[in-house]
Amino acid sequence: MDRLRIKGGNKLKGKIYISGAKNAALPLICASLLTDEAVTLTNMPLLSDIRSMNALLEQLGTKIESHDEIVDGNACKSYTYHTPKFESLVAPYDYVRKMRASYYVLGPLLARQGYVELSLPGGCAIGARPMDIHLSALEQMGANIEIKNGYVIAKVDGRLKGAHLVFKIASVGATCNVLMAAVLAEGETIIENAAREPEIGDLAKMLNSMGAKISGIDTSVLKVEGVERLHGTTHKIIADRIEAGSYAVAAAITRGCIELVNAQAETLQTPIKLLRQTGVNVEEREHSIVVDAEGCELVGQDLMTDYYPGFPTDLQAQFLTLMLTARGASMVTETIFENRFMHVPELLRMGANINVHGHASAIVRGVDKLYGAPVMATDLRASFALVLAGLVAEGETIVNRIYHLDRGYEKLEEKLRGVGADIVRESDKEEE
Ligand code: EPZ
Repeated sequence: MDRLRIKGGNKLKGKIYISGAKNAALPLICASLLTDEAVTLTNMPLLSDIRSMNALLEQLGTKIESHDEIVDGNACKSYTYHTPKFESLVAPYDYVRKMRASYYVLGPLLARQGYVELSLPGGCAIGARPMDIHLSALEQMGANIEIKNGYVIAKVDGRLKGAHLVFKIASVGATCNVLMAAVLAEGETIIENAAREPEIGDLAKMLNSMGAKISGIDTSVLKVEGVERLHGTTHKIIADRIEAGSYAVAAAITRGCIELVNAQAETLQTPIKLLRQTGVNVEEREHSIVVDAEGCELVGQDLMTDYYPGFPTDLQAQFLTLMLTARGASMVTETIFENRFMHVPELLRMGANINVHGHASAIVRGVDKLYGAPVMATDLRASFALVLAGLVAEGETIVNRIYHLDRGYEKLEEKLRGVGADIVRESDKEEE
């Protein structure tokens, strides 16, 4: 298993290219299943979650081709997905177990083929994460749903029917799944209390470019006029706002200065505001964000996660870690997931001063120093938080179980080394 060895203390300076967004790419890949024509996605991040999703689609019968390309001066890949017919309508346990987002095949398969078997994803390290909103919406659209042997078996005779849906929670996953089902349904679907994350806007825009009729994009009420078929398209995936926010914290925590090239400031307004309140200079440019903390003395700020445009839960661990290097106390409250302070016990081992209250909030007090230690995390964003702590800690930090990081941060060590970090990847194989 690979690990990262980090020597703390370097001020990070330079430019980092922000990749395409993982959480946009995953539903976009599945949206390609809605048509028998080819769909090309450009600015694709090279991540293990993308490889897992590609493997699942190939198993369903999708032909996938990859092409090298240069987007905004950065070498990356584009992928063409083509599913003229299906070889299977089953998303097996082995795929879903590796990656929850496999459940994005549910809406497209049901809408195009009228049948799907999906292994039910269980809970995960950050919470129980049920699928009740997805399933109840599809039932309201005429699907017959059974849970058998750990699988959701969903069928519909003919087309799904448009429905007026009111989500009890603005769930990202349910909004994507139901949107993908609704575009091929008969009649109008209205989703009230839809999630407004930019990744959903990206999905809706691509679906419209395939011939779908979605209005209300980027608002909490989505209206979909169902169509009989969709055609192929080419779509550029939006920049990853969580990756950008994570490297913004890397600049701030090391009191350095990084230009986040290709980052979209309009998708990061709440984190940018918080960085400024903390004392960091942030300049929003047309195609980048410059985060400059050189010579800044930071002051701790409270933060509470919320649905977009609120503060993203996927940046909570990183900002909590930043607050350890700020003056005074900060209260960090997590409202989206019930178990998302798993990074705290590891940070405590590095000399952090954090008190977690129940599952929802933590008081973080600034400390003079963090100290390097071997650490490991149980989810993607928590792992990045430990990398951040390692970047400022005195001595050496070893971050274990980095397969979490490989799921969501493209070329992590390369990007950090490019701005001056002392970070290397080691694997047991090399040492044997
Ligand atoms: C997406 O997860 C992201 N994943 C997560 O990113 C992100 O943390 C989350 O949205 C919130 O922004 C992907 O996009 C692949 P939700 P998702 O449905 O869709 C409850 C990362 O690190 N809920 O918006 O699973 C749920 O339990 C990951 O990149 C129900 O109760 O999140 C949670 O408490 C981690 N019933 C809340 O809603 C349902 O049917 C929000 O979950 C669905 C959700």
